[in-house]
Amino acid sequence: MTVLDFAPLLAPGLPAPAAKWTSFPKYNFTGGHNDGEQVPLDAIVKAANDVLIREGRTLATYGLESGPQGYRPLREFLAQKLKRTAGIVCTADDILITSGSLQALDLVNGILLSRGDTIITEAETYQGALNRWTRLGVTAVGIPLDGDGMRMDALAAALDVLKRRGVRAKYIYTVPTVQNPTGTILSEARRAEMLKLAEQHGVPIFEDDCYSDLIWDGRRPPALHAMCKHGGVIHIGSFSKSIAPALRVGYIVADWSLISRMLAIKSDAGSGALEQMVLGEFCPAHFDTHVPELTRGLHKKLETLMDALNEQFGTAAEFEDPKGGIFLWVKLPDQVDTLKLYQPALAAGVAVNPGPEWTTDKAYGKSRTRLCFANPSHEAIRAGVAALAEVCRREFGVPDRIANVQRARA
Ligand SMILES: Cc1ncc(COP(=O)(O)O)c(C=O)c1O
Repeated sequence: MTVLDFAPLLAPGLPAPAAKWTSFPKYNFTGGHNDGEQVPLDAIVKAANDVLIREGRTLATYGLESGPQGYRPLREFLAQKLKRTAGIVCTADDILITSGSLQALDLVNGILLSRGDTIITEAETYQGALNRWTRLGVTAVGIPLDGDGMRMDALAAALDVLKRRGVRAKYIYTVPTVQNPTGTILSEARRAEMLKLAEQHGVPIFEDDCYSDLIWDGRRPPALHAMCKHGGVIHIGSFSKSIAPALRVGYIVADWSLISRMLAIKSDAGSGALEQMVLGEFCPAHFDTHVPELTRGLHKKLETLMDALNEQFGTAAEFEDPKGGIFLWVKLPDQVDTLKLYQPALAAGVAVNPGPEWTTDKAYGKSRTRLCFANPSHEAIRAGVAALAEVCRREFGVPDRIANVQRARA
């Protein structure tokens, strides 16, 4: 039997094929996975049972009985939660439930971006956003960060340069509250400054707030959406980081004039209903007790990771102590190329995210790596960092002392 060759039929411009998944590496510091021990299973099981017994027959209709914007009780929970925690004034009608906030990125991009457009972003940023801009043929102008998040002097300068060139950026993408990957929180003063600059230049802000519940001291500045007086902010969020990423539930807060355009390109006839129903049942009763518990556990894992890095890498690993989240953004010595570290580390069972995949400036990202500490156990964090230090020393000669023991040069 001859096998049909699909290769000549494939649409031009497809991204590279995905690698086949086999299993998670032994020490997995990649991705935005959550802590399995902390998934609130009992309450989720009960919520699923209760909501299905009560409302299960609505599964017979697309969109349940809530319409295409998503399960109404979940949107109502979000409207009151966003008011309480982020200061956002909105109603269930201003919210669109999406299949993870990745779909939110696609929908916002879908209504705003075309090939050749320019957007502005933090120079260190989320790989999923960077990949989308590349795929769409959009130029991403990276703005450097410091300990308080995106630098407003650099943003002002970039907006001026674009203006002189006659370019109006389509949006300023920012992860202002526990930034990915730097873990910084944009100060309230800078938020006000960003809003002023955005308004002056007629550029919307695209606020991606998926880590904002995971702050060690629970205190966050108001959302940009909350501080904006001229309706120029699209806000997105997710339950991936606060509850569980496999649920695939995210959301968009925007004016109907935008949601109506997004609904017109949202091609899945509604995001998965079961997970929305479960969250709509679980969250009003349990979100507020679950999140601080989860956050305490994550903070302990961060401490284990920082201790392990200090012990195994000494001064060869530099990092700031993030105020929340699930990542540590680590600078290794200049001679380390984290893209080249990736494969040998994986062969030793350690998966890390190479820095160039999280930056608009690939040279800046070269010796940096992002480590997600949420999923591995404390023991796996310690053993994984020790294994990573061995590989790094073998491949790049650093660190030359591991666990305070001088090693022969590789
Ligand atoms: C900044 C940012 N935005 C969006 C997402 C997408 O998350 P999800 O689709 O699971 O909501 C992630 C995931 O890691 C992220 O870090």
